[in-house]
Amino acid sequence: MTEIFSSSDVTQIIPLSAPVAAPRARRSRRLPARPLRRQETRPADVPPTSLAKLEAHNLSAWFGEHQVLDRVSLTMPAGVITSLIGPSGCGKSTFLRILNRMHELVPSASLAGQVLIDDQDIYEPERKLVDARKSIGMVFQKPNPFPAMSIYDNVIAGLKLTGTRASRDERDYLVESCLTKAGLWNEVHDRLRAPGGGLSGGQQQRLCIARSLAVKPRVLLMDEPCSALDPTSTRVIEETMLELVNDVTIVIVTHNMQQAQRVSTQCAFFLASQGQPGAIVEHGDTAAMFSDPIDARTFDYVSGRFG
Ligand SMILES: Nc1ncnc2c1ncn2[C@@H]1O[C@H](COP(=O)(O)OP(=O)(O)O)[C@@H](O)[C@H]1O
Ligand SMILES: [Mg+2]
Repeated sequence: MTEIFSSSDVTQIIPLSAPVAAPRARRSRRLPARPLRRQETRPADVPPTSLAKLEAHNLSAWFGEHQVLDRVSLTMPAGVITSLIGPSGCGKSTFLRILNRMHELVPSASLAGQVLIDDQDIYEPERKLVDARKSIGMVFQKPNPFPAMSIYDNVIAGLKLTGTRASRDERDYLVESCLTKAGLWNEVHDRLRAPGGGLSGGQQQRLCIARSLAVKPRVLLMDEPCSALDPTSTRVIEETMLELVNDVTIVIVTHNMQQAQRVSTQCAFFLASQGQPGAIVEHGDTAAMFSDPIDARTFDYVSGRFG
């Protein structure tokens, strides 16, 4: 199928609403200086979120007449970090945006193929756009918190934008649990009312991760999340990812070959050769892709001969 999308019905680019009850976060290791009010018991009626598998089947994409992806298929297993590597312009970001229905924000954009989350096609007509955004979150290259908004309000921005109701206790718990999961709680617990824009770049990126987590996604897409960060912040984000993957399936685009090897279990190499649309040359176990690639082009790329 080929569909032409209109962006007229899309008003948000932040992943949309999610139920607030029953956070599964690990408890903070350190108590806040001024403790937040906390629920004594967690609501028992909401089951823990299960890990989700994401599958792309024969995805092709166009901007106007220009085809940028050609029949890309990839399974991104549940509870695993999948890295997408390849030179600029080969369609990695487009592929990622198709995975959570952001591609259709571009008026000229069209696509063909299927995206399945646990065997459910996110592009089925009866599936709501907000459902895809809710279950498949996105973190971008440039940290994009709302700069004047407080750290606290940044975390729960996805709830507010959709009018999802949450009690003060639920909001407090959500903020603490998401900041803890994003590895930021210890650094900001005593200044939750300070503006998000006052944080360092690496902290802002972790705040954006916390904001994504607040709507309880089952998959987190990360498009070069560390490329604007220093090595120390990069390491912290990588550690955060390795913790998060116990709760959420992760797909990361990276140009950093060491990063792909440090964090990902499986890897896909994208390439758009000589004006052709992007396609996957090779994918599989990350260690094998780097040590013993099958395709000569993969070898050339991972050994730094081009790109
Ligand atoms: N909004 C857009 N409008 C038109 N063309 C675009 C748009 N975004 C990306 N492209 C084109 O799609 C191709 C793939 O881009 P992209 O997915 O950003 O690649 P990558 O992330 O691998 O660098 C490029 O040729 C790029 O110029
Ligand atoms: Mg890109």
